[in-house]
Amino acid sequence: MENLMEKIVSLCKRRGFIYPGSEIYGGLANSWDYGPLGVELKNNIKQLWWKRFVQNRGDIAGIDAALIMNPKVWEASGHVATFSDPLVECKKCHERFRKDFLPLDIDKDGEVKCTNCGASGKDIFTQPRQFNLMFKTFIGPAEEEANVAYLRPETAQAMFVNFKNILDTSRKTLPFGIAQIGKAFRNEITPGNFIFRTREFEQMEIEYFIREKEWEKQFEYWQNEMREWIKELGVDIKKIHEIEILENERAHYSKRTIDFEYEFPFGQKELYGLAYRADFDLKNHFKEAPYKEEGGEAFWPHCIEPTWGVDRSVLVVLLEAYKEEQDRVVLKLPLKLAPYKAAVFPLLKNKPELVEKAREIYNDLKKDLMVAWDDRGNIGKRYYSQDEIGTPFCITIDFDTLKDDTVTVRDRDTMEQERVRVDELKNLLNGKLQ
Ligand code: GAP
Repeated sequence: MENLMEKIVSLCKRRGFIYPGSEIYGGLANSWDYGPLGVELKNNIKQLWWKRFVQNRGDIAGIDAALIMNPKVWEASGHVATFSDPLVECKKCHERFRKDFLPLDIDKDGEVKCTNCGASGKDIFTQPRQFNLMFKTFIGPAEEEANVAYLRPETAQAMFVNFKNILDTSRKTLPFGIAQIGKAFRNEITPGNFIFRTREFEQMEIEYFIREKEWEKQFEYWQNEMREWIKELGVDIKKIHEIEILENERAHYSKRTIDFEYEFPFGQKELYGLAYRADFDLKNHFKEAPYKEEGGEAFWPHCIEPTWGVDRSVLVVLLEAYKEEQDRVVLKLPLKLAPYKAAVFPLLKNKPELVEKAREIYNDLKKDLMVAWDDRGNIGKRYYSQDEIGTPFCITIDFDTLKDDTVTVRDRDTMEQERVRVDELKNLLNGKLQ
């Protein structure tokens, strides 16, 4: 299974999904750049999410807030004081590890081995100390304490801070949500496993505000919504494990957390999370109860937070879609997520009449869909190349096209071919891509 990760990383680099960041300078520990196909896949995931949870519902409002917020936000939210991981250091090679990621519990098992230098012993590691994960920076030219600011470690706080703005401008009543997609930054001690854990990543989050008494019902509702989303990504739900997080392991703000863990090739790990944040955040940010309905008393709404990592979504989608079949590698991506929806081929590239007709069809389809053009090698190689990047339909323009205005449409998954009239092509593709 580890092998699958290597295959995915290699395919991503080779075909332009994801490259190592700053590669020509030797890279930068676990930073990754999305290439032409990767950005399409990632954007398709974000658009699908936005459509499903914001545009197709009346009760969730979207925002896009600044990455750098007033540092008081992070004091009030508890992140400056408590957003930390336990760090230990190998006394021999000085490599630093997140204590809870070490293969053995250093407090209980005694003899431990450093996975970096191989040294082992009872006290090979330093005592754990708390390491704050917030990325610090300075606002303005003077690098002094008064000007310290942080890159946001979660998108969530902007939703709490804007709670009253949203209420005033959208006239929402409980229950309602605020959603955001955007970058978050964490100075992770041990990043790794490709795009699974990085220091810069994207989140899709909803803060869903409710009355306290309905929190259990709403929690269950969102748990189900998250399951449905996972299915929409084409993920085998049998590989998902919903894990109840114990009180002493929960984030400082949470009264109940369920992690959606996925069987990654490197182990069962968190894909998404669902937390009941109660009124923790609104109480920290607003001095007075911020919500009131006509004739009623003002009060503090409670909050359910479903949260999704964008990069982890990309990773599971790739892992689930990757298939090796007899003589081909194919990404069986859900059609809505595929970077290219179709590819257009002139049968022979040295026949101008075929190329001209194929260009005409390509230019027309491109007005509505992401379409690839390929005129290299033989048709078999072109199919192979498009299968590997998950293009659902390949359209070949041949000599019959010039006679009867029909083309061959080949399906990625069944590999079956059908003859279709050019003037029906758009309808056919749009129908299948619904
Ligand atoms: N607002 C709540 C929150 O941020 P979290 O569990 O810390 O909760 C939410 O993060 C999601 O963000 C995770 O479930 C995961 O998908 C993603 N995530 C967290 N840290 C990450 C990292 N270092 N690299 C990539 N994705 C990460």
